[in-house]
Amino acid sequence: PNEPPVVFHWFPIIGSTITYGMDPPRFFHEMRAKYGDIFTFILLGKKTTVYVGPAGNDFILNGKLKDVSAEDIYTVLTTPVFGKDVVYDCPNSKLMEQKKFMKVALTTPAFQKYVPIIADEVTSYFKKCPDFKGQSGVANIPKNMAELTIFTASHSLQGKEVRSRFDEGIAALYHDLDMGFTPVNFMLHWVPLPWNARRDRAQRTIANIYMDIIKERRAKGNNDGSEDIMWHLMNATYKNGVKVPDHEVAHMLIALLMAGQHSSSSTSAWIMLRLASRPDITEALYREQVEALGEDLPPLTYEDLAKLPLNQNIIKETLRLHAPIHSILRAVKSPMQVPGTKYVVPTSHQLLAAAGVSATDPKYFPEPDLWEPTRWNKDSPIAPSVVQDAAAEEEKIDYGYGLVSKGANSPYLPFGAGRHRCIGEQFANLQLQVITAMIVRMFKFRNVDGSNRVIGTDYASLFSRPLEPANIHWEKRNW
Ligand code: HEM
Repeated sequence: PNEPPVVFHWFPIIGSTITYGMDPPRFFHEMRAKYGDIFTFILLGKKTTVYVGPAGNDFILNGKLKDVSAEDIYTVLTTPVFGKDVVYDCPNSKLMEQKKFMKVALTTPAFQKYVPIIADEVTSYFKKCPDFKGQSGVANIPKNMAELTIFTASHSLQGKEVRSRFDEGIAALYHDLDMGFTPVNFMLHWVPLPWNARRDRAQRTIANIYMDIIKERRAKGNNDGSEDIMWHLMNATYKNGVKVPDHEVAHMLIALLMAGQHSSSSTSAWIMLRLASRPDITEALYREQVEALGEDLPPLTYEDLAKLPLNQNIIKETLRLHAPIHSILRAVKSPMQVPGTKYVVPTSHQLLAAAGVSATDPKYFPEPDLWEPTRWNKDSPIAPSVVQDAAAEEEKIDYGYGLVSKGANSPYLPFGAGRHRCIGEQFANLQLQVITAMIVRMFKFRNVDGSNRVIGTDYASLFSRPLEPANIHWEKRNW
């Protein structure tokens, strides 16, 4: 009684797992058309209540601690990968403090240092990469973007010691660790499968590498001049007076790299694929840099990024259509009355927020399926219908790691909202803007067949990404 409508299905345990799993956004749109903004479907035997639209996002993402839990869902997957005592292997209040520690290293002075580091990584990557020998050719771009993301993120966030180990084998360990991050592990996390044994070994090895670096730094008097995230974390103290232990520093470093890697690398791959489908936009990006920064295209700085609005809007528009996290899950801890409806969500259900549904709703975004970065200009005929300066007016709240927007009235939430909101948004934006700007300086792209078409999405892993091979044709500018 009073439970949201249940999606029709033939088989009890399987329910809608297959149709959902094959194409979650399509499933959400179709079910919403049939059942409305709130409905329940069976996912691997579990009653899963979806509530889409701004009210649904607010209900789930700003749910109270006594009502909803992220750690109850995610810990089986994340704890073997990140390690103990961090993120979802500790009380939420501890995660909030950890997020505060991680955030202090992501400030403007740090970003000013990161821009040249990332720009140099991009240039040297393409100069060295065997896939880009000669003047033109074809490349499976997601693979290159995954490599480039880990080089740029590890170098800027974790410092040069860690970055140099990526040339010497730590990449293979991260790959093993990654294998723990598959949806099948929601069910099989505890099975002694070969990839889980490799995952556990990789976790221990990487954590030990970080702990050795921490020990070396402490022995040297702690500071080698670079106030990077490691440095901030190893000097942080919890409110109860306990210094953050080295193993937690190591595990947070792994969590940060893993959280950023998949989302950012998938997004940068989509950016390149979209640019290949729209060579006119690539040229507009190139001209934007020439006009704003000068004909000789000097080394990129943090301040330059603000002068490149189209470059910024590329990221925004790509995340609107290709947000890597299509489903956010929460366990229900006490029965939840849905405001303004007769529905109650019982504790036997889990909740699912899908912010991508409103980001592709014609009510908010005219011609929603069109990738058109210029729509974010105020005078565009297809500008978003909601207040343009929503961010400025939005309600903010502090969950313990600084003010974040509640997102309660925003149809566009690629970085989530509320207590679990992303702390990496500014870093990801910076990294993606620098990568895009530098690549546009070096290359022209087009689809191999010269068409405007775009490849489909692979939803088989936890973060959605382009189906591979996703080949594009590249041609070097003058270098
Ligand atoms: C949380 C998206 C990059 C670190 C989240 C959440 C989303 C998200 C949707 C909320 C998850 C939930 O509510 O369950 C993205 C996207 C990115 C990105 C789209 C890139 C395009 C990064 C980067 C970092 C990072 C680069 C690290 C530097 C985190 C952390 C959380 C988080 C620590 C908090 C998890 C929690 O509190 O439960 N991200 N993220 N993310 N992200 Fe990101």
